[in-house]
Amino acid sequence: MKLKNQVALITGGGGVLGGAIARKLAAEGAKIVLFDIRAEFAARNAEAVIAAAGVAEPVGLDITDAAEVRRVIDELHARHGRIDILVNCAGGSARGRMKSFHEQSLDVVRDIIGVNLFGTLHCIHAVSRHMVAAGSGNIVNIGSAVAVQGLVGCVDYAASKGAILSATKSLAKELSPLGINVNCVSPGQIPREHPDDPDDFARRHSFLNRIGTPDDIASLVVYLTLPEAGFITGQNYIVDGGRTLAMQGSDLRA
Ligand SMILES: NC(=O)c1ccc[n+]([C@@H]2O[C@H](COP(=O)([O-])OP(=O)(O)OC[C@H]3O[C@@H](n4cnc5c(N)ncnc54)[C@H](O)[C@@H]3O)[C@@H](O)[C@H]2O)c1
Repeated sequence: MKLKNQVALITGGGGVLGGAIARKLAAEGAKIVLFDIRAEFAARNAEAVIAAAGVAEPVGLDITDAAEVRRVIDELHARHGRIDILVNCAGGSARGRMKSFHEQSLDVVRDIIGVNLFGTLHCIHAVSRHMVAAGSGNIVNIGSAVAVQGLVGCVDYAASKGAILSATKSLAKELSPLGINVNCVSPGQIPREHPDDPDDFARRHSFLNRIGTPDDIASLVVYLTLPEAGFITGQNYIVDGGRTLAMQGSDLRA
């Protein structure tokens, strides 16, 4: 166990990727705090960690509320005496509300950027002060392959994730000399429910003969928090089964 006694905050901790990251960080001995606006989902993922003999605490929290984020993080720090790891995983695309940008409601655009970008920055702002004071810490932001490749109907989402990627690099330049590593993991398509036709899904979304899983993402996130990754900072890792290798019109596998 390489993260024994460390405290790890995971935003979007009630989600599919957040849950997998929580289980793997806990298996390395970290105490887990799961933030999610859906408190009951955070509680369910915390129960899974506890059932596997880990330590986890769910917290119902809307990360778009900067003052509340600051209050909760300061309270956690006061109680635990440390915050070692922050994984920014809350957010997502507009899903059922996705539209071409010229037809999209600006309220939806503000919603997506508000959670994905501002929510993430609120958490980093509140946590990094404690990490700077401690002279150590690890921040892993969850981006998206969409940030580097673009996607129709996803301008708001792409803009938010592209900004996270840029922020990761600037934060690494500011914080790494103070002992804090900052990196980004950008998933490709990881289904939240098992697809009806996994082979077809795999073929459409990767160059490997299987679907991507939450554990594929969680494994890299955990690695980036371990001592052996200590010389890695300011980087973005795309975990997408090679999907971003595709060139439209040049796919000979069709
Ligand atoms: N699953 C994928 O294919 C995929 C691909 C690329 C990037 N991602 C990114 O990975 C992250 C996790 O995605 P997921 O697939 O686990 O989705 P998910 O919906 O299962 O998890 C996201 C969680 O964020 C929470 N959340 C939303 N708004 C919040 C707020 N204001 N405050 C606190 N929590 C809030 C949700 O309640 C949810 O539990 C997201 O940032 C997403 O953009 C996912």
